[in-house]
Amino acid sequence: MATDTAATTEVSEDGVRRRDWIHIAALGTAGVGGASVLFPLISQMAPSADVLAASTTEVDVSAIQPGQSIKATFRKQPLFVKRLTADEIAKAKADDASDMRDPAKLADRTKAGHEDVLVTMGVCTHLGCVPLGAAEGENKGEFGGYFCPCHGSHYDVAGRIRKGPAPKNLVVPEYEFTSDTVIRVG
Ligand code: FES
Repeated sequence: MATDTAATTEVSEDGVRRRDWIHIAALGTAGVGGASVLFPLISQMAPSADVLAASTTEVDVSAIQPGQSIKATFRKQPLFVKRLTADEIAKAKADDASDMRDPAKLADRTKAGHEDVLVTMGVCTHLGCVPLGAAEGENKGEFGGYFCPCHGSHYDVAGRIRKGPAPKNLVVPEYEFTSDTVIRVG
């Protein structure tokens, strides 16, 4: 009787241990398998150097004269870089307190020490047309900045929406000055 009990207990303990081992072994295999799947996924998600370079745009702003704009491309979208004249800066600052649909000060839309350089996407915030005003002789609209001919949106010299159906100012993308004359967008 005592032997039977001992045998039953031994079998039972073995069973538990075996199950525990199978459980741990299965987890270990899943862990290793998971890691071997995750690593290539993570390394694929990290952008390579050439992808990073392609996603940024560098512009030398030194050749842009006061009152001129240039068109560039950022992530396959038009980008406007404008150098404001002293009069345009004064006008934009005087308008900072005006009643606007999308209020923003010139200082909020430019970099400190470079308030004469305005960098915006060249994409109307209404339905995405490319506004006029960045090229010589183009219609700059009633506020002297950009004019979208698709449905008549007028942006001021700081790219702020002042009239027409567009709901928002021209978007200022992420950018920084990498030197006194060069900006890197993105
Ligand atoms: S897309 Fe510019 S006003 Fe409609």
